[in-house]
Order: sequence, then structure tokens, then C-alpha cells
Amino acid sequence: MGEPRPQTAAIVLAAGHGSRMRSARPKVLHGTAGRPLLLHVLAALQPLELARSVVVVSPAGRDQVEAACSSFGFEDGIIYATQESPRGTAEAVSAGLDSLTGGSESSVLVVAGDTPLLRTETLRALLDLHVARAPSATLVTARMEDPTGYGRILRGYGDEVEKIVEERDASALERSVKEVNAGVYVFDAVRLGEVLGKVDDANAQGEFYLPDVVGLLRSGNEPVLALGADASEVQGVNSRSDLANAGELLRLRACEYWMSEGVTIVDPRTTYIDASVSIGRDAVIRPFSFLEGRTIIEDGAEVGPQARVVDSVVGEHATVSFAVVKKSTLEAETSVGPFASLRPGTTLERGAHVGTFVETKNSRIGEGSKANHLSYLGDAEIGNGVNIGAGTITANFDGRNKNKTVIEDEAYIGSDTTMVAPVRIGKRAATGAGAVVRTDVPDDALAVGVPARNIEGKGNKMGKGENGATADP
Ligand code: UD1
Ligand code: CA
Repeated sequence: MGEPRPQTAAIVLAAGHGSRMRSARPKVLHGTAGRPLLLHVLAALQPLELARSVVVVSPAGRDQVEAACSSFGFEDGIIYATQESPRGTAEAVSAGLDSLTGGSESSVLVVAGDTPLLRTETLRALLDLHVARAPSATLVTARMEDPTGYGRILRGYGDEVEKIVEERDASALERSVKEVNAGVYVFDAVRLGEVLGKVDDANAQGEFYLPDVVGLLRSGNEPVLALGADASEVQGVNSRSDLANAGELLRLRACEYWMSEGVTIVDPRTTYIDASVSIGRDAVIRPFSFLEGRTIIEDGAEVGPQARVVDSVVGEHATVSFAVVKKSTLEAETSVGPFASLRPGTTLERGAHVGTFVETKNSRIGEGSKANHLSYLGDAEIGNGVNIGAGTITANFDGRNKNKTVIEDEAYIGSDTTMVAPVRIGKRAATGAGAVVRTDVPDDALAVGVPARNIEGKGNKMGKGENGATADP
């Protein structure tokens, strides 16, 4: 952790139209690895504790960008500035600077909103270098095997950065340079404001280029420093293909991180872990698994193969295979799958099991209870030690309302039972195969037939009483 940096403000450029995406949506809102591009950048900035961050947006994208930022919890210290038309990165920075007037920040960190791989450590090193040496500007560069599309760094005899030339304005010789501009800079705030006014649009794209500031500073012999970073970190996303490539790197990075924290990931290439997920020690993530949103995987849990877990908790030593789990809580030692769909509002209490072709929704399934095969459990409150036979359905929807089914502790629901809600099945009660239960079943009773009739005292199949048959699901 570093110190807060009240002397520095950030300007994040997010007003370009991103024409290479061919999209109706602002480019920086295209998502990868669990959040929009821009949010990856804001997340990298957050630990730096800068005074303020200005996000420069287009008039058309403003509302969407603001909504996306706040939905991911980025609100405090963020200012939005509008760039009326996207006439270049220098103009975007001017718009950002205008909204910082009156502030006390002496330096400005500029980052593009389309570089989701940038790491906090690199930004920190850049700021430290800038503070230590106090040049007019410090920028990040990287060497790329294939520098196509990036601005090239031109160095002078003494190896200082002299200027940056955009690919479309570069000579063949300049294009052969493999050192590229990452689009990440720190400037002395006052000098930046002065020099921006001198940038013109006399170039192949007719735009006001921010990188021209470097050449302008150098022509006045002002010091400009460069910090080398890894090529993988500075990749900008300009097309859908870039988006997929960045996603792959972000995912591998997430897997590396969790492995270093003590998680077994069997196949990182087919494991998708969003940035907002957390995973406990000795958890095992098997291939083709997707951990999304605010998911928590606790110690020793085993997820996958082929599990999609969204906004859910998977408790200690729980297992989930070939299943979709959304907004649900699986307590310790529960098991799900293969081939189960847990829809929002499902809670499996300790040791409960939901098996093959079982769908649940807004239901609580008590400790040690089992629904092993082929069931729909919706709006159900199921107690402890309950056995749900194959083919059981809670008929929770009467065409107008959703109704609740309550199944009390140690009840035994026979195969192919339909419970027409609202209905209650008492403690230790049982239902016969194929029963259609329309009225409440008292404790210990057995309900049989269509519609089911209750036979007092004939339930208790899960218990050890005189009618008790040991359940063999
Ligand atoms: C830019 C740099 C290039 C660098 C590369 C690194 C310029 C002129 N070129 O090129 O040297 O190698 O980034 O990724 O800066 N934007 C605005 N307003 C505008 C134009 C752009 O806000 O008028 C925003 C975009 O939304 C984007 C960022 O600035 O987030 C960069 O713009 P982009 O068009 O992607 O620049 P590149 O061509 O990638
Ligand atoms: Ca770009």
C-alpha cells in the first residue's frame, strides 16, 4: 500500500467513438473479465488514492458511463467532463483540465479508458519516478513485437524521448520502431495547460494528438522521462478482437493470482474468474467454470467441471458440478449437480443435496435434505432431513400468484408428487408415488392418490418409528 497522493489528479479518456468496435455502445463500456473496460482502469487507479479523477465522456455516452461507474461502486471523487466532439486526445485532456480548475493538484496522470490491463503497480512506479525527478512529463512505453496501431517512441542521440509519432503519420523507418506509447502519462499540471494550447491538428487524422505535447516540451528542451512496462499491460482495446485478447490476459492474470493464494485451478485457459470474485484456500476450480459477479467460494469447495456461479456463495467443502447457480447460498458440505439449475433465492443448508435435472428458485432446503433427481422446487420452505423423490413438483403458480409450499422436517415426498401451493406437508408426513396434494398433510400422515387423501399416522418414512422404512432414494 502506498501513501495517498493529494497532489495528483487523474484524467481518464473515454470520449472517443470507438468506431473500430462497430457498436452502438461507447467503447469503454464493452465488458471483459466481469466489468466494462473503463472500470478496469478505474479499479487500477483506486488504490493510488488520488485527489480526484475526471472521466472525459462524449455527450451521447455520458449517462451510460455514469450509470456503469456507479453500478460498480465508483462514485466518490469522480468528476465527469464532456468533450463535445471527439477531435483528439489532446482536446479530451483539455476538457478534463477545465473541470479541474480551482483545484490544488500540481500533477496530472492521464490514462486512456481502453487499456484494461494496466496495473496499479505500474502507475505507482510512474508517479514515483515523476515525483523523484520532477520532469515536465513522464510517460509509459513498451516494446512490442508487433507495434501496429500504436504511436511510436522516437529517441534522440542521448537516448531521450524526443517525440511520438502516430502510425498513420510515420515514415517506414519510424514504423519499424518497436517501442510504443502506452497512452499513460504524468504531466506537470501548469505546463500541460500551457502546451496543450500549442497542439494543432496538422496530421493524417486531422486530430489534436496528446502525444504531440511530448514533442513540444522537448523542442523547448524540457525533460521528459519514460518508464518501460511489459507489453501485455499497455494493450489498448480498439476492436472486438482486441477485447477478446485483453479478456484472455485478464483471466489468466486472475487465475495466477488465485493460484498464488492457494487455490487449485485445473485448467486456467478454460476458467473464467471475474475481478469481483473471492476464493478460499484449497478450493478446486475444474475446467470450463465461470465464477461471476460477487461470488464467494469458501475454503475447500470444489467447483466444476462446467459450473457457472453468479453472485453466490459456495460454502466450505461444498461441490458444484455441471450446474448453473445464480444469487444463491450453498452452505458448507452441500452438493449440487450434475445438471442442476439453482435460480435466485435458493439456500441450501449444511449438507443438503440437489442432484440431476433439479431446478430450484426462491427456496430454502434444510440441513441434510435431498432432492436427487428431476424436480422443480419453487417458493418452497423445506425443513431438515427431508427426502424429495424423483419427479416432485411444487406447483407454485396458479396463473395469477406465486404460492408457497412448506415441507416440514423429515417429511418423505414420494416419486412424482405434485404439491399444489399453497400447501403444507407436516413433520414426518409422507406422500405416495404420483400423489397430487391439494390440502395440507398433518404431521405423521400419509397422503395418497389424486387428489390425495390423508391417512393419519401412516407417514414417518424417514424416521425410525413403527411405520418407518429407511429411506432409499
Ligand atoms: C492512442 C495514442 C497512441 C498510443 C495508444 C495507446 C493518440 C493520438 N494516440 O492511440 O500514441 O500508442 O493510444 O493505446 O493519443 N479519446 C477521447 N477523445 C477523443 C479521442 C479519443 O476521449 O477525441 C479517448 C478514447 O475513448 C480512448 C483514448 O482516448 O479511450 C485513446 O483513443 P484512441 O482513439 O483509442 O487512440 P489510439 O488510436 O489507440
Ligand atoms: Ca486505443
